[in-house]
Amino acid sequence: MTKVLIFNGSPRRNGNTSTLIKECVRAIKDSGKEAEVFFLNDMNIKPCQFCDWCIDNNALSCVEEDDMHELYPKLLESDVIIFAAPIFWFTISAQMKLFMDRLYALHAKGGKFQLSPKKVGAILVYGDNNVETSGVNNAIGTMKDVIHYMKSEDMGIVHGTAYKIGDAEKNTELMKQAYDLGLKVSK
Ligand SMILES: Cc1cc2nc3c(=O)[nH]c(=O)nc-3n(C[C@H](O)[C@H](O)[C@H](O)COP(=O)(O)O)c2cc1C
Repeated sequence: MTKVLIFNGSPRRNGNTSTLIKECVRAIKDSGKEAEVFFLNDMNIKPCQFCDWCIDNNALSCVEEDDMHELYPKLLESDVIIFAAPIFWFTISAQMKLFMDRLYALHAKGGKFQLSPKKVGAILVYGDNNVETSGVNNAIGTMKDVIHYMKSEDMGIVHGTAYKIGDAEKNTELMKQAYDLGLKVSK
């Protein structure tokens, strides 16, 4: 069975990111597959301290005793990873950035990144009606760099406008993109 992990970087449990994730998961389920969703905001995830304990000990884990310990084995065993986040201050939310920084621990001694190759997608949502001024292009750049660094297959970076809770449902094009991403990663 394909192992799909989806990481939600919004602080709002019923916000637009969650709505789009649900639509993506609906497609995954329609395809007979399953996905596991993690709401990062409620997890205890400390910032990377760059102590290099992970690399020095070839640990594929971190010296910090927090909720990343639940995620590291799941990440290593996964087939598909989807990063989903709102745009805060012209890039990914802090919740998502904290989590991504901690992926540093998945480097083996010698430097080879072990979280690869995977199928990787992203869902990004922003309040601005204008793509250029929303800051989403910064986040898209980050996601593309991450996918390249992970030597992974780019499954698509879904993005669009929704501001208030409930707005994503009204953005039918965005909802369709989220559903289509779910279909694509399930193949
Ligand atoms: C602190 C903060 C910063 C934000 N910064 C931006 C921004 O730079 N560009 C933008 O288009 N929207 C910005 N927004 C709007 C959110 O991206 C938007 O409301 C999004 O739908 C929130 O997702 P959620 O409902 O999943 O929490 C910001 C919102 C907050 C609370």
